[in-house]
Amino acid sequence: MNRKYRKTIIAANWKMHKTPTETKAFAERLKSAIPRAKRCSIVLCVPFVDIPAAVKLLKDSRIAVGAQNLHWDASGPYTGEISADMLADLDVKYVIIGHSERRALFGESDLMINQKVHAALGAGLRPILCVGEDRQQRDLGVTLEFITYQLKAALAGVSPEDMRRVVIAYEPIWAIGTGQTATPDQAGEVCSAIRSVLRKLYGARIARSTTIQYGGSMNEANAEALLNQEDVDGGLIGTASLDADQFLQIIYTANQDG
Ligand code: PGA
Repeated sequence: MNRKYRKTIIAANWKMHKTPTETKAFAERLKSAIPRAKRCSIVLCVPFVDIPAAVKLLKDSRIAVGAQNLHWDASGPYTGEISADMLADLDVKYVIIGHSERRALFGESDLMINQKVHAALGAGLRPILCVGEDRQQRDLGVTLEFITYQLKAALAGVSPEDMRRVVIAYEPIWAIGTGQTATPDQAGEVCSAIRSVLRKLYGARIARSTTIQYGGSMNEANAEALLNQEDVDGGLIGTASLDADQFLQIIYTANQDG
């Protein structure tokens, strides 16, 4: 982390977990125990149906609510889909875009992801754009090339002004939900390479102020070492975010003085 230049953001990605009733209990616990010092931002990316409950309960707190997906068009014949404006109208602030599960299981292409980034920005939402290599790409030594490609594709046409609202999440696919976290050095290396790509695309100032999270089996035991990396500015946390106390431990770590 480098809090001098950019925000540290700890975000939960609940995926398809928790009912609205469970969301209430979680939000209450979280609200009652978050640290007073505001050294990191906190976001809960919940399933669509949990959004109203989360927004209502967290209204007077500093915890923002995020979604996990959206459609790229403003409206239309897309049965089962949700638009950026619908989310913004509910007071959603962030939206995860390009998660590897959506790319792999729901056929999301780089073009769709780019369009979703534009849709989110157009509605005033902050995209959390996920990039990351699979095991084979890492073994073949093409991680940085692949991530550079993903970034360029997803950010095509995004203005420098809008880029200030984009958060990047580096999520190596082999580390997601596997318990096999990237080492701090591996995470730091890729996050700093991501910042170099942003420097080339948007210049030094924007690159320096962009929050780049790590995601992939981050938990209370490994968070400190990962966040100690200069270019790792937070976490996108799946499994360990489902338990309020585990998630709080990661928040406490990110919130430490120094
Ligand atoms: P994980 O999920 O923490 O369970 O690995 C992270 C993510 O997929 O965002």
